[in-house]
Amino acid sequence: MRHFEIRAAVPSDAEVIAALHVEGWREFRAFVPAAIMAARDYASRAREWRQRLEAADPRWWTALAEHDGRPVGFVGVEHLSAPAMGANSEIHNLFVTTEWRRHGVGRRLLAAAADWIDSVGAEPISLYSFTENSHRKAYTPIGGRIVGERQSAWDGVVIPETCYIWPTAADLIAHTR
Ligand SMILES: CC(C)(COP(=O)(O)OP(=O)(O)OC[C@H]1O[C@@H](n2cnc3c(N)ncnc32)[C@H](O)[C@@H]1OP(=O)(O)O)[C@@H](O)C(=O)NCCC(=O)NCCS
Repeated sequence: MRHFEIRAAVPSDAEVIAALHVEGWREFRAFVPAAIMAARDYASRAREWRQRLEAADPRWWTALAEHDGRPVGFVGVEHLSAPAMGANSEIHNLFVTTEWRRHGVGRRLLAAAADWIDSVGAEPISLYSFTENSHRKAYTPIGGRIVGERQSAWDGVVIPETCYIWPTAADLIAHTR
């Protein structure tokens, strides 16, 4: 079994998180228009993550998975200010670097996110994945229940996202063991 650790992200992680984010988004090239991809390059993601992490907004939480100090994945969660699809939190980002997939990193990042959600009382939990993203198959064995679709506009282009819900943090954690 490969060893990795999970810790809360700090502002100096912005660049490594941006690199993981850009790498993960490459998976979406088949269905996300090129102009939308180009607008989310490394420089723009690094800016976005620097702002997010420096703001230290208590409604947002980001964690990094590392192997020997090298980043292998990250998760980003929001405690929603108003419920959506019956959920009070949303897992906005979940990305694992290619060579580390299927080694339990995604599962452990989700469990860490669920712990944080439990600590701030933000259940139920939602996660939206592009409907055309084949990786979303991962969420069914981890207990995610599909409750609908969101028609999100990305730079004015609508791309459907499938919504998964976990009723409680304990339910998500139980599926990550
Ligand atoms: C989706 C993603 C985060 C999963 O991370 P991961 O570290 O590979 O996931 P885990 O190893 O913890 O897998 C947990 C379980 O999910 C399921 N699973 C994971 N990836 C899967 C896939 N591509 N297809 C079907 N089931 C999958 C399996 O049941 C797996 O358990 P198993 O390996 O014991 O069979 C990762 O594949 C990824 O970063 N993909 C590209 C970016 C992306 O689509 N992110 C999600 C945006 S919503």
